[in-house]
Amino acid sequence: MLVTGGAGFIGANFVHYTTQRHPEFEITVLDALTYAGDEASLAPVRDLVRFVHGDICDADLVEREVAGTDVVVHFAAESHVDNSLHDPAPFVRTNLMGTFTLLEAVRRHGKRFHHISTDEVFGDLPIDSDEQFHEETPYDPSSPYSATKAGSDMLVRAWARSYGVAATISNCANNYGPYQHVEKFIPRQITNVLVGAMPKLYGEGRNVREWTHVDDHNAAVHLILAKGRIGETYLIGSGDERGNLEITRLLLELMGRGADDFEHVADRPGHDLRYSNDTTKIRGELGWVPQYADFRAGLAATIAWYRENEWWWKPRKEATERRYRELGR
Ligand code: NAD
Ligand code: DAU
Repeated sequence: MLVTGGAGFIGANFVHYTTQRHPEFEITVLDALTYAGDEASLAPVRDLVRFVHGDICDADLVEREVAGTDVVVHFAAESHVDNSLHDPAPFVRTNLMGTFTLLEAVRRHGKRFHHISTDEVFGDLPIDSDEQFHEETPYDPSSPYSATKAGSDMLVRAWARSYGVAATISNCANNYGPYQHVEKFIPRQITNVLVGAMPKLYGEGRNVREWTHVDDHNAAVHLILAKGRIGETYLIGSGDERGNLEITRLLLELMGRGADDFEHVADRPGHDLRYSNDTTKIRGELGWVPQYADFRAGLAATIAWYRENEWWWKPRKEATERRYRELGR
C-alpha cells in the first residue's frame, strides 16, 4: 500500500491504524514533508513502514512507487483554507497536478486508487437548517482549497470513467484527534490555552462543522478499500454538528478556564457557514458506524494528547501564530 501524505495529520493516523488493525499491508509512505508534514508523527510505527521523502508531482518517482504497490491511498494535499486564501499556488500544484500525476501512474500500472477528499467541495449550507450534502450534491466550492479538491475529485471521476481506473472517492467532514497541525481550529485553541494565550474565534463563532474522529474516518477508508464499489463516492461524517463558539466554550471548560476566556478575531473571507453529510450510503452499504459517539470524551482525550505531547507541537506553534498575526487572525 502506498500512502501519500502519510506524515500529515490524517495520513499518519491512517498508518498507525493500519499497522494495528490491518497488519497484512506493507506500507510505503510518500510525503514531501512540507510545513504540514512531520516524520515524528510516524515515530511509533517507524520500523513498520518504508518512508520515501518525495513529491507527488515528481512523475518519475511516482511512477516507480506506484509500479511497486497494489493500492494507493491518496491523502497528500495542501489542506488549510486560510493558507489557500493567502497563497493559492501550492494548492493548485499539489492538489491538482499531484493528483493528476498519481492518476496517470495508476492508469499505466492498473492499480487500485482511493482518493481522500472533503465535504468542502459541496460549498456550504444555511446555519439554521437541516439540509445535508449527499453523494449527488452538485459541487460548489468556496475557497481555493476546496476548488482544487473539487478539481481533483473531478480528475479521479474522469480517469475512472474514461480509462477504467479502479478508483473510489470519500468526502469526509472535519476531523479531530492527535497529530493535527496547530494551525487547525481545535489544536490551535488547545495549544493557545496551554501556552497561556486566548483561543481565537473567527467572527461571531456561529459557523457549524461536523466533527469526526480521525480513527472513525480511517476505519471508513478501510471499509471502502475492502468492500467499496469501484467508481463510487462515499460521504463520511459523525453526525455531530457543533458551532465554533460552542466548541470553544467546551474546550475552555475541559481545560479549567472561564467560559469567556477567548477573543474574537477577524472572520475568514468567504467563510463557509455549515457542513453536514448524509452518511446513509456508507452506513447502509458498508456497515460503517462511528465509534467516537461522545464528542466531549473525544475532545478531552485530544486535549490530553496535546498536554502530553508538547515535544510534537511546540516547535511549530510560534511560527504558526506569527503567520496568523500577519493575516490579522
Ligand atoms: P495535512 O496538511 O495535515 O497533511 C498533508 C500531508 O501531505 C503532509 O504530510 C504534507 O507534507 C503532505 N504533502 C503536501 N504536499 C505534498 C506533495 N506535493 N507531495 C507529497 N506530499 C505532500 O492534511 P490532513 O488534514 O491530514 O488532510 C489529509 C487529506 O484529507 C487531504 O487530502 C484533505 O483534503 C483531506 N481531508 C481533511 C480533513 C480534515 O479535517 N483535516 C477532512 C476531510 C478531508
Ligand atoms: O470539512 C473538512 C475540512 O475541514 C477539510 O477539508 C480541511 O482540510 C480542514 O482544514 C477543515 O477545514 P475548516 O476550514 O472547516 O477547518 P479549520 O480547522 O480551519 O476551521 C474550523 C472552523 O473554525 C472554521 O469555521 C473556521 C474556525 N476557526 C478556525 C481557526 C483556525 C476559528 O474560529 N478560529 C481559528 O483560529
